[in-house]
Amino acid sequence: MKRSHFCNDVRKEQIGDRITLFGWVNRRRDHGGVIFVDLRDRTGLVQVVFSPERNAEVHQQAHVLRNEYVLQIEGTVAPRPKETENPKMPTGLIEVDVDSFTILNASQTLPFLLDDEDLGENTRLTYRFLDLRRPQMQHNLSFRHRVNHTIRTVLDGAGFLDIETPMLTRSTPEGARDYLVPSRVNPGQFYALPQSPQLFKQLLMISGYDRYFQITRCFRDEDLRADRQPEFTQVDLEMAFVEEEDVMAVTEEVIHESFKKALDVTISTPIPKITYAQAMEQYGLDAPDVRNPLVLTDLTEQMKNTGFKVFSAQSRLKGPGGLRGAVKALRVPGGAKLTRKQIDNYTKFVEIYGAKGLAYIKINGPWQEEGWQSPIVKFFSDVEKEAIVAATQAETGDIIFFGADKLSVVNEALGRLRVVVGNDLKLVDPEAFGLVWVTEFPLLQWDDESKRFNAVHHPFTAPMPEDLYLLDEVDEEGVPPLHRIRSRAYDLVLNGTEIGGGSIRIHDPKMQRKMLALLEIGPEEAEDKFGFLLRALEFGAPPHGGLALGMDRLVALMLKTDSIRDVIAFPKTQKAGCVLTQAPSKVDQIQLRELHLRSTFRAKTEEKP
Ligand code: AMO
Ligand code: AMP
Repeated sequence: MKRSHFCNDVRKEQIGDRITLFGWVNRRRDHGGVIFVDLRDRTGLVQVVFSPERNAEVHQQAHVLRNEYVLQIEGTVAPRPKETENPKMPTGLIEVDVDSFTILNASQTLPFLLDDEDLGENTRLTYRFLDLRRPQMQHNLSFRHRVNHTIRTVLDGAGFLDIETPMLTRSTPEGARDYLVPSRVNPGQFYALPQSPQLFKQLLMISGYDRYFQITRCFRDEDLRADRQPEFTQVDLEMAFVEEEDVMAVTEEVIHESFKKALDVTISTPIPKITYAQAMEQYGLDAPDVRNPLVLTDLTEQMKNTGFKVFSAQSRLKGPGGLRGAVKALRVPGGAKLTRKQIDNYTKFVEIYGAKGLAYIKINGPWQEEGWQSPIVKFFSDVEKEAIVAATQAETGDIIFFGADKLSVVNEALGRLRVVVGNDLKLVDPEAFGLVWVTEFPLLQWDDESKRFNAVHHPFTAPMPEDLYLLDEVDEEGVPPLHRIRSRAYDLVLNGTEIGGGSIRIHDPKMQRKMLALLEIGPEEAEDKFGFLLRALEFGAPPHGGLALGMDRLVALMLKTDSIRDVIAFPKTQKAGCVLTQAPSKVDQIQLRELHLRSTFRAKTEEKP
């Protein structure tokens, strides 16, 4: 058995050659005496012909062929008759006259046609081994390989070492739940699968392996969405003796080369930067789609005394941890043409994010000439109307949407509305790639439910030194304004999705202990969870920083697919299951006993009355 060509590689130049092909029957057509088969392999299709004139016996045998039979073919390359040439196919000018063939395996009738575009997710995943035969999936996975390979080449060229870190480890906090693995030899104890290699890569910097990278799996037990999987792949890197700019420069090289090599698209560098504060102010979200020209305007000051009580009340609201109310506007140029129904739908949409309404003004003309159409305009003074125009720059033909609530609610509601309206009104070029760095994230974020601060990135992210004086200040509430301390963290955002994030780390053990204390992790808990890191920091830790890119998200966005499941060979469903292998599954009692485990779970049907 020796293959001479892949299917898609046969060309006019081979006419007259004897070749050997392997592949699957993509389609069989019986044309009154002559049997045509499109033979398929990883590379594509080629037409092979079984003709009775050429070889009556071979032609006779070909009658048993069915879709997805696996064949070895010996044949001679011939030009196609002019009228059957297909210039759209790379192999469309030739065909292969079969001299002999072997059926290497048969196939049952497929549960679906491979070219069926409307297959349900469940069917596709149950028969993933067939789904992966489809040219689209073959393309996606080889594209992913190309990106992966390019990233390795770039990082190798930049002096990075690929070092593997453990999968059976301790919890690395990245904000999700851990997947736990029971230890047989240490009864009652558990490993955690890594949420990221964060702590190990920091240890590697302390060990002197300046410039580490790894393309590795991470595990997070969190609610799944189209861009989230319980196990996913990070391009993880870390560098010593660097600042933000250095990590960003390497990352930009990785991104630039990936787009160049895999898509032949040139990303212009340096990639623009905006601060977190700017992003929230203008876009309401920390992962803005910068292809979208719409921006939010803050009107909180201007609405302090307005007659519309919802607005004035929110404008004055203040609470702990920097909590405040806000009134913000989203001006949509040309939006006055939106129908009542569209506005009602947008109102329902923002309610998902906690908004209590969606006030609006349609600007059909100057307000002085009764040109404003709105349920709330009657409450505004002339000064307030002028202020709205001045702040939003609204013109005739526009609509202005308003949100009034806690700032976080207003930002999320109008931020998401901005995305939807931008797409609905075709203000975003779907073919374009919009990249932006978001910098200077807050270090800590007040959680009003648990009444304490959480780390916005992870607890190892360095604060901006110029903000540390805030630790010794007190605000109106009589507590340090911790929410105002900025961090040295940065995210990379592509088309409104966070594709990567990183930071300069804390390398001073005193600072690291202080950070854990701010998070209300006491000395004992700190020692128990992170003692090894705290100790390592005492032994000559260099300044260091890094970043991780979400490989699945990056590739999915490059390919413009809606879900990262389309770029993962064997992804999980929304319920974190693998319908192909039926994982997770029950295990037998013996196995549980060996692991010193007993399940307390009783399915409803098993429950005794
Ligand atoms: P972070 O938690 O931001 O940072 O993760 C880095 C990137 O990984 C991707 N990502 C995911 N992709 C698919 N499914 C998921 N469930 C998922 N969760 C995250 C995102 C994200 O930007 N240790 C830090 C990095 C660092 O500081 O160096 C970390 O893990 O694209
Ligand atoms: P109402 O006075 O409740 O009839 O509301 C008048 C208009 O203001 C309606 O268009 C509501 O959708 C809108 N609205 C009410 N509450 C809010 C809010 N918190 N933020 C933005 N708009 C609101």
